[in-house]
Amino acid sequence: MSDHEPRAEGVARILIGDDEIRARIVEMARELDDVYGDDVPLLVGVLNGAITFMTDLMRAMTIPVQVDLMEVSSYGGTATETSGLVRILKDLSSSIEGKDVLIVEDIIDTGLTLNYLLRYLRGKNPRSLRICALLDKPARRLVEIDIDYRGFTIPDQFVIGYGLDYGEFYRNLPFIGVLKPEVYEQP
Ligand code: IMP
Repeated sequence: MSDHEPRAEGVARILIGDDEIRARIVEMARELDDVYGDDVPLLVGVLNGAITFMTDLMRAMTIPVQVDLMEVSSYGGTATETSGLVRILKDLSSSIEGKDVLIVEDIIDTGLTLNYLLRYLRGKNPRSLRICALLDKPARRLVEIDIDYRGFTIPDQFVIGYGLDYGEFYRNLPFIGVLKPEVYEQP
């Protein structure tokens, strides 16, 4: 291993490599360019998980875009489970009324976080509201969510890397990996 390999002791295996992620994001960006055309989408990234995806996606798009960021956290759950109780830690910086909003999310798991966010953003009267998620974990869905653009559908495993964390670690890994169960199953 070279000195420049990321340290990833908790990773059981790589699920999606960085080349594969990059190639898929280019495809998604092309599709978004075509869909929005002359309209200027406002990309709303959901912190912290979507940071990597958001910055790669917007750089792969060629049409003019605007960006904003929100931070939400769910509380009352466990380290690997969402509770559905969502708190806004950072709100939008400006009005989205009449804008073409594209929510940029890292992963949709139970769908509870996004369900809350959709209701919140719909109430602010955007012209359109669409969802772009890098990962979709449909096995655990508790509420139906219409995902407009998805990068990859993944199995029911806890994943880390490329923005996704476990206890705020692993976000900087360039790939998406499966976390070793012993990391979160410690007594
Ligand atoms: P949901 O509300 O259950 O859909 O969960 C949404 C949020 O939970 C995501 O935005 C992630 O921050 C986090 N999350 C869900 N599954 C995973 C995972 O496998 N790895 C890391 N974070 C996850």
